[in-house]
Amino acid sequence: MKHFKTIIETKKYLSRMKKEGKTIGFVPTMGALHAGHLNLIKRSKDENDLTVSSIFVNPIQFNNREDLERYPRNLGTDANLLAHEGCDVLFAPETGEMYPDGEAAGFDPEFGLLDKVMEGKFRPGHFKGVAIVVRKLFEIVGPDRAYFGKKDYQQLAIIRAMVKMLELPVLIVPCETVRESDGLAMSSRNMRLTIAERNQAPRIYKVLCKVKEKKGKVPIWELKEWAVKKIQEDSDLRVEYFEIADCDTLMPLESWNLRQQSVALTAVYLGDVRLIDNLELFS
Ligand code: PAJ
Repeated sequence: MKHFKTIIETKKYLSRMKKEGKTIGFVPTMGALHAGHLNLIKRSKDENDLTVSSIFVNPIQFNNREDLERYPRNLGTDANLLAHEGCDVLFAPETGEMYPDGEAAGFDPEFGLLDKVMEGKFRPGHFKGVAIVVRKLFEIVGPDRAYFGKKDYQQLAIIRAMVKMLELPVLIVPCETVRESDGLAMSSRNMRLTIAERNQAPRIYKVLCKVKEKKGKVPIWELKEWAVKKIQEDSDLRVEYFEIADCDTLMPLESWNLRQQSVALTAVYLGDVRLIDNLELFS
């Protein structure tokens, strides 16, 4: 696996590969890799000649300094995992390489309500930071296809909206959420849970599954209230939001329209660890 730290080497190498007619699949990450990330690499390898991944803990998408500082960093281990999975190129820049003029980065995308609800509401500025870095990474890598997990459902919608808005020539490929055997969605944050917290965390997915079963049978407001109660009942889990939204626009729904595809999304605190998860309510 090639391992680049600078934009120029990455661009040079990839432009040579493109001239040879190779298609490029891209998996952007912030490192602390787990099976969820590696599944994106596998998918990209199946569908492209060359797979490129990036590891960059993007400071401008953290609205909380402490969260940024606590973010796990282990480039050596991550690089080994990627090489083992057959990733061809790793781009892992320092912050100064990505933001040579400081962290204000010129591009001010407008997402309307999409970055104001749920994650956008509770993490102001987060999605602008994501869009800025992903646009920059797309410009460096020039992928034919880019792979994103449904685990970050709203992020996926934001990236799709950006690609459409800027007419970027890249196909966005959504990939299913990879879960632990007890249903907990894999996340780099899970390693910060205590044993007691870890034992309670699968409740989130269990309730999401129950919500799917109850779709259309109970009014939405009542189902949301029930879900919050069930997640919190006799546990340390504290729900920040629980929404049922349209799959494409992510606008919260007030009543069922069974022709409209919907998704349940939630953010839950366990101690000071914030977990997000979601489940599409159609099969
Ligand atoms: P990160 O949290 O490292 O996630 C990188 C990619 O892995 C994202 O597309 C995310 O949705 C996907 N992913 C994470 N956990 C997953 C799981 N359990 N199952 C399936 N996919 C999963 O998301 C980011 O980084 C950043 O915001 C980034 C897009 C790299 C921009 O900085």
